[in-house]
Amino acid sequence: MAQIIDGKQVSARMREDIRRRVETVRDRGVIPGLAVVLVGDNPASHSYVKAKEAACGDVGIRSFDRRLPSDITEADLLAEVAAFRANPDVDGILVQLPLPHHISEERITDAIGSEKDVDGFHPENLGRMLLGRPRFLPCTPFGVMKLLETIGIDPAGKEVVIVGRSNIVGKPLASMLVQKARGANATVTVCHTATERLEYHTKRADILIAAAGKAGCISGDMIKPQAVVIDVGVNRVEDASRKSGYRLVGDVDFSSAERVASWITPVPGGVGPMTITMLLSNTVDSAESRASRPADG
Ligand code: GUN
Repeated sequence: MAQIIDGKQVSARMREDIRRRVETVRDRGVIPGLAVVLVGDNPASHSYVKAKEAACGDVGIRSFDRRLPSDITEADLLAEVAAFRANPDVDGILVQLPLPHHISEERITDAIGSEKDVDGFHPENLGRMLLGRPRFLPCTPFGVMKLLETIGIDPAGKEVVIVGRSNIVGKPLASMLVQKARGANATVTVCHTATERLEYHTKRADILIAAAGKAGCISGDMIKPQAVVIDVGVNRVEDASRKSGYRLVGDVDFSSAERVASWITPVPGGVGPMTITMLLSNTVDSAESRASRPADG
């Protein structure tokens, strides 16, 4: 049976360290601040945003919460972002995705600017990451790298297979793992919807990362014995036995996979808490830069 990678526990330890960094920077007169913007009423986005705000409070980061209606115009949302960008008390700006279809996610991400882009989605920050000169790393891939490091798995020279090529997980994670750097240096394959014989690839993986957003699409028979399995998927499936009417499952069919893998992340409680922890870490990085800059004027 696979050992469970407890993202909650790893996160809790990292948050202790983040809390200390917050205290230090507060002693220098800077209160780390994160603007959290939610547009509309997507229930999943709502719960992510609530969790992010609670995590900020937990480590002493001040959050500036903005709930906006789904029919807000792009121009009005851009104005909200511009106000946060100009606000010296705000070190990071997070606009929860997805946005309503009439708003361009690209234009909003660009408007956040690279300096406060603690999500790591701005083209400049993604370009820096690709070049091995990182500033803010995207939180979910960054969290996956931290989990591997924590369990003592060095990706160097290993076959890593990522299933999914999204801009916020698959593509940046491939770029991080392929860097010629400590904790990376892997041989990386990225599978996606046009991949033929998915199982051929997944079965070769020493480290298999599922980030396709499809419940249970990776089963135990697609996994190489003793592989490390990281499940980034968060999918709601109907469950009449729950008060909410649903439960969360990953992209990996956990019960068959845990019989084959050496290590595996659960859903929930694996990658999810790490995403938020890396967001806190990026925000404190940004506040530390503010504390080191000479005051304006
Ligand atoms: N939607 C899904 N994941 C994320 C994330 O990490 N950040 C933001 N802003 N939106 C998301």
